Amino acid sequence: MTAPATGLTDPKAMTTSSLPLSLGRLNHVALVVADLASATATWRDTLGATVSEPQALPEHGVTVVFIDLPNTRLELLEPLGDGSPVSRFLETHKGGGMHHVCLEVEDVRVARDELIARGARVLGDGEPRTGAHGNPVIFLHPADLHGTLLELEEVRPS
Ligand code: CO
Repeated sequence: MTAPATGLTDPKAMTTSSLPLSLGRLNHVALVVADLASATATWRDTLGATVSEPQALPEHGVTVVFIDLPNTRLELLEPLGDGSPVSRFLETHKGGGMHHVCLEVEDVRVARDELIARGARVLGDGEPRTGAHGNPVIFLHPADLHGTLLELEEVRPS
């Protein structure tokens, strides 16, 4: 048997919930780095990636560089300021590593309420915050997702 060309898994072999939350596209994968300039140079000069200028996001405690890929983007995150959430990450992940995955949802508050009803925990006070792209986002507790920090970003269908 060969896998279908359009996907990694035979869709007939997959199961889904009948609940109304529907996960959308992979919006980005965020990678924490200890040295943003060095990491940017590696992605640009070694890997040949298209990278953005660094953007300081003080309200999130990070400086970010966006890397555009044909089907999604990567975000390189470097700590910014005191108490940056990614500083703590670097203490336990020397040199950096994968920080979170972000999936799109149509309505982040609807998604949040459904997820809480199913026992998932939302980080912070549960209210969506404005993410790096100006859209409302929430983060789900990694302990409820087998160790992965998952961000949900509201992207309205255009
Ligand atoms: Co993110």
